[in-house]
Amino acid sequence: MKGIILAGGKGTRLYPITRGASKQLLPIYDKPMIFHPITTLMLAGIRDILVIAMPDSLSSYQRLLGTGEDWGMSFTYAPQPEPRGLADAFIIGAGFVGGHCSALALGDNMFYGAGLGGELESFGKLETGATILACQVTNPSEFGVVEMAPDGTALSIEEKPTRPRSNWAVTGLYFYDQDVVDIAREVQSSARGELEITSVNEAYLKRGNLKVHRLARGTAWLDAGTFDGLIQASQFVQTVEKRQGMKIACPEEVAWRKHFINDAQLDKLASEYKNEYGQYLHSLLNMPFWEQT
Ligand code: DAU
Repeated sequence: MKGIILAGGKGTRLYPITRGASKQLLPIYDKPMIFHPITTLMLAGIRDILVIAMPDSLSSYQRLLGTGEDWGMSFTYAPQPEPRGLADAFIIGAGFVGGHCSALALGDNMFYGAGLGGELESFGKLETGATILACQVTNPSEFGVVEMAPDGTALSIEEKPTRPRSNWAVTGLYFYDQDVVDIAREVQSSARGELEITSVNEAYLKRGNLKVHRLARGTAWLDAGTFDGLIQASQFVQTVEKRQGMKIACPEEVAWRKHFINDAQLDKLASEYKNEYGQYLHSLLNMPFWEQT
């Protein structure tokens, strides 16, 4: 499966911060925001990722992530000159996706919770249809909203409805089969002038091919699109990391745990940092073996 990260948009809700810097490069405590969707995709077993960003910020992403080789990954880059909508990812990424299944991760969405790694791994094995993740929220009108039958079958899906039919928001992580590119090409602009990912999901729903995975109560889903969202996400990561001594969304660690890289490669990466981040990476190698899985 291939992965796409959408790290474009103008981030106007975060102006003036995002006048000079791409939102998904902003720090979430000790790491750039984009490390979150990258590690989410890595945990799904995805090693080939296309990063889509505004043309003027692409070089910053390239400087941060490079080819991905050091992490046992492959990163390629493509510009999105205007934020035309989330479904545009599959039009821009058509050549990259080719005939493969693919996952789309929004650059500002973060997931954290026990058991999530195993769930992501199973979504990464999708062969037909689409799987989306839904999470209960108190403000569903601000998201895509999915209505479900008691057995979890999706009944309807709407983008930012004024009268939401449920409090289950659709999160910014989507898994699709190879039909997604053709489906995205058929999507018409919405009232807000965007190619909505919700229209893609509706197409799968109409085909009877949309699976909705409900995130468990103990799973945190955050997006860092506002001033408060940004600081809350940072404080969340700081609190968990300080308490446990384990990092959230550390790509070098995920690469090593998933055996994309070996001990010697992790050691080399660790040595490049002369700070607490490097010490953390070194410490992984000295962990008792039963904690190394
Ligand atoms: O966060 C989950 C929500 O994301 C879903 O519940 C909604 O169904 C989905 O439409 C989307 O809603 P938003 O209105 O919050 O999306 P937003 O425009 O904020 O874009 C999400 C991220 O994608 C943001 O980091 C910017 C980036 N983006 C957005 C657009 C429209 C792009 O890179 N290119 C784009 O064209």
